[in-house]
Amino acid sequence: MTPETSAATEAPAAGFDVKTLSGSFGAEVRGLDLSNLDKDRFEQAYQLMVEHKVVVFRDQHFDLDSYEAFAGRWGRIHKHPFMRGMDSHPGILEIVKTETDRRAFGNAWHSDQMFNPKPAKFTMLYAREVPDRGGDTMFANMSAAYESLSDGMKTMLETLRGWNVGSREKLRAASTVPSNSRPPAGMQEEIPPEEQQTEASHPLVRTHQDSGDKTLYFGGHTMHIDGMTPTESAPILRYLQSVVTRPEFQCRVEWEVDSLTMWDNRCVQHYAIDDYAGQRRRMHRITIAGDEIPV
Ligand code: SIN
Repeated sequence: MTPETSAATEAPAAGFDVKTLSGSFGAEVRGLDLSNLDKDRFEQAYQLMVEHKVVVFRDQHFDLDSYEAFAGRWGRIHKHPFMRGMDSHPGILEIVKTETDRRAFGNAWHSDQMFNPKPAKFTMLYAREVPDRGGDTMFANMSAAYESLSDGMKTMLETLRGWNVGSREKLRAASTVPSNSRPPAGMQEEIPPEEQQTEASHPLVRTHQDSGDKTLYFGGHTMHIDGMTPTESAPILRYLQSVVTRPEFQCRVEWEVDSLTMWDNRCVQHYAIDDYAGQRRRMHRITIAGDEIPV
């Protein structure tokens, strides 16, 4: 259900083009103006997200206010416990890699805010400046990966839970915090208490709230399996990660200025490719807070 309506929906109507990004998932949409969606069109956009899991909407035109207003239609805007939003718009994270920065933000497979008891639902990333080449974002389909597993493996995973941690030190070790991120000093009181939690246990297999599909659910924040040591957990998590990131379960977004890509963190991992040394890339990210404890 969307936050805006509980009405039943039909397949997207004509009027905009949808092209799939890979055999597994992902879509590119042209001709849909996100800044001007009536209720039916918003519902269609939501259904595109449920169907394709990752959608890149080309040629979008938002200023900071209208971008935040658009994001607010998808749910509550999440405030990050470790990263400071823009001074004028605290819900927007400006992710910049300059010509001299040495590391890119998000350069490891992960799903956003998995360390929160109610982890992020969607993330949207809006391209303001892109390198001449490189700087694509990769996505991996955890639902398709789950479906590919044997019945024996599915049964084994049924009762297992991952322990997910978001501490800056551990994120740094996993390369998911940008070298130029600022400490959140003085920010804590602005962050809702439920978003200050940075450790959480979640089932390794969850049921997607909208589609009803079962999906693997783990990523770069998953430190170990509940009740197992990190050493015992590592081979299992490593194997599952190798399945999730099989080329067959991936799609790739090539950025253009004014593209806005949304992904569904409930069933997708993502990875920012750091292959544009000496060039500048600037994105505006908004994360939509989760509204459910994964089951
Ligand atoms: C992220 O992990 O949110 C950043 C993805 C990107 O910059 O491509």
